Amino acid sequence: MIHRLAVNPILFYFFTSDSNGTGTMNDTLQREQIEKQVDEILSHYTEVQGNLISIMHEIQTLYHYLPKEPLRVLADRTGFTMQRLYSIATFYNHFSLEPRGKHEVHICTGTACHVKGAPRLVDELERELGIKEGQTTEDMNFSLHAVRCVGACSLAPVVLVDGITLGGATPKSLTKLLNKLRKEDETEPSGGNGNGKQP
Ligand code: FES
Repeated sequence: MIHRLAVNPILFYFFTSDSNGTGTMNDTLQREQIEKQVDEILSHYTEVQGNLISIMHEIQTLYHYLPKEPLRVLADRTGFTMQRLYSIATFYNHFSLEPRGKHEVHICTGTACHVKGAPRLVDELERELGIKEGQTTEDMNFSLHAVRCVGACSLAPVVLVDGITLGGATPKSLTKLLNKLRKEDETEPSGGNGNGKQP
């Protein structure tokens, strides 16, 4: 007989660790670096209570998702519990507790965009990136997400790349844009996906 264990996702997230918990020098350095980064973000705000979502958004922008360690530092610094931070992170669609690609491609599949050819664009992006909707490329460069109406129906079909709205998107214009981003990434000093900030 198979017994299913009911795991509370909040407790699971809270008690599983990215580090090995042995307190090595690397762990200490990593923690110090993360503390510095979170403190820097917090310094942009005079008040935390009303800006918690913006602060978490900045953390996500820095790491491309919300890793546990920066959230732990945020909880320590502000007095918010991890449960509270976790419930915010899971309530809003734009937050992710899983690593995402450096470039986030959101394709609108709302009614207006659907009528104007969004399904064809999804197919094209999946083919071009070699992933399915909801996935991230192996090199961590691109994530592809389908979203509902983003409020720009007059520009349908709409694709958002790194938060920038592209109206009247076509397979050709998307391929051109992806190639441009790839080229820019190649000429970046780090030469990588710029995602080395993950703790
Ligand atoms: S349906 Fe795509 S922007 Fe409204």
